[in-house]
Amino acid sequence: MKVNLTTKDGQARGKSRRAFLGSLSLALPAASLLLASACQRGGGQGDKFVIGFSQANKAEPWRTWMDSTLMKEAAKHPQLEIAYADAQQDNSKQVADVENFLRQRVDLLIISPNEAKPLTGIVKRVYDSGIPVIVLDRSIEGDSYTTFIGADNREIGRAAGEYAAQLLGGKGNVVEIKGLPGSTPAIDRNAGFREAVAAHPGIEIIADPVADWLRDKGREQAEAALRANEKIDLIYGHNDPMAMGAYLAATAMNRADGLKIIGIDGLPGTEGGAKAVLDGKLDATFLYPNCGTEAIETAMKILNKEQPPKKITPPTARITKENAAQFINE
Ligand code: FRU
Repeated sequence: MKVNLTTKDGQARGKSRRAFLGSLSLALPAASLLLASACQRGGGQGDKFVIGFSQANKAEPWRTWMDSTLMKEAAKHPQLEIAYADAQQDNSKQVADVENFLRQRVDLLIISPNEAKPLTGIVKRVYDSGIPVIVLDRSIEGDSYTTFIGADNREIGRAAGEYAAQLLGGKGNVVEIKGLPGSTPAIDRNAGFREAVAAHPGIEIIADPVADWLRDKGREQAEAALRANEKIDLIYGHNDPMAMGAYLAATAMNRADGLKIIGIDGLPGTEGGAKAVLDGKLDATFLYPNCGTEAIETAMKILNKEQPPKKITPPTARITKENAAQFINE
């Protein structure tokens, strides 16, 4: 069943929607095309679904991957238009982006919240207003959404901790480089890792700096930790960019010999984490599926008035040198 955009809120929406769509930053050529065609048609013709997609920070490689998967999946549905807004890792901008979507009464909101607490209020307002909400990868506080889609980060953290213990033979000094403190994957990847490592009293986490998910900050933090500690046996990055930052710091400081480095994400492609594992720069990474396909599949279900599950948890995988080649192609 399709929603008629011209009558849903009792007025022709072509003009305001056009102005609104024009004010948003566009992610990808696919998005631009979709939006351009919506504008040319002049809107107000009905039969279209507009999905507002609020991305936390499109500059990060994992999010570029997510955007491209999601846009390709959306392109399979001619009746879908994606209105895209990039928050650039800024909570206030993301709140404003979502307020725009709410004001324009998009048919559905997909959001990957930068941090949980600052975005909870606005996501709840959208949900309470009757607009279906899909929360992707990072969550909010509470469950004011239609569906949450994302891999189990606590489980990934635990798997990383168990593998770290295996690599270390049960003893050694570990540095954990953490993601943005208020984002749920950073909280869960920390908790799961610590849970697993607690079973090995010979392992000590000697430092756990924050690097906000960013490679350059990861590099700075790893450099500081290596300078301050003579013996570091393993560095665990909450994502591959920060783990790669650690690798760059360690090689530049001549400290890479014998040092184990593990990350999370396992992006495909020549620059991704899977290739870094294959090349021996990282010892392991854990696939963090981007969920772009699931997001659109679920959105279509909701728009067709089907009830999706409250939680969708795509599987993860450990990537080591042995199986990394399989993960280079998407
Ligand atoms: C990108 C990213 C990924 C990470 C995910 C967690 O913004 O930092 O590298 O796995 O977000 O939400």
